Amino acid sequence: MNLPKGIESILIDKETIESKVTELANIIDNNYKDIETPLVVIGLLKGSFIFMSDLVKQMQTPLQVDFMIASSYGDSMENTEVSIIKDIETHISGRHVLIVEDIIDTGITLTKIENILSNRNPKSMKICTLLNKPSRRTSEVNIDFNGFDIDDHFVGGMGLDYAQKYRNLPYIGVVKNEKL
Ligand code: XMP
Ligand code: MG
Repeated sequence: MNLPKGIESILIDKETIESKVTELANIIDNNYKDIETPLVVIGLLKGSFIFMSDLVKQMQTPLQVDFMIASSYGDSMENTEVSIIKDIETHISGRHVLIVEDIIDTGITLTKIENILSNRNPKSMKICTLLNKPSRRTSEVNIDFNGFDIDDHFVGGMGLDYAQKYRNLPYIGVVKNEKL
């Protein structure tokens, strides 16, 4: 296969991702099989848009979707500010919430988002991510549904970008690290 110039190799191919997404959808459906109100699935943009759409297409649980855009500034846990650029429109008080992420790296973004959303008193809040880089964690995150643990590569594809490129690739590729 011809890879884009900035991608050095395929880390997780399309077929492996597709079967993992199906597996995750089944596990999540099973988890919410007795749900009494539609699940609120919240995607963190932009990175989660492809994974989230693939995932919800495979799910049977009654659900609605909403999206949030968060941005992080700073480079340490103490100094990192996460600001919400776009908030959800759904009232989540008393609702079951599933947050969908593309990748959990340091865990800082998700920790802050969890704090913000849990202050709104959801009935439950769980986390689903396509990728997880456990070696980079500085802020503990309890991941309920995890696609793949990966080593510390910078990756693109399936919604993830490097400088806004590669989001549309249907696989996870390792980005060449010329100037990372
Ligand atoms: P933290 O460190 O707060 O950040 O868990 C998670 C966010 O960082 C971005 N991120 C990546 N984006 N390839 C990407 O395209 C990567 O390898 C990568 N690692 C972290 C991503 O936006 C994620 O939501
Ligand atoms: Mg992201």
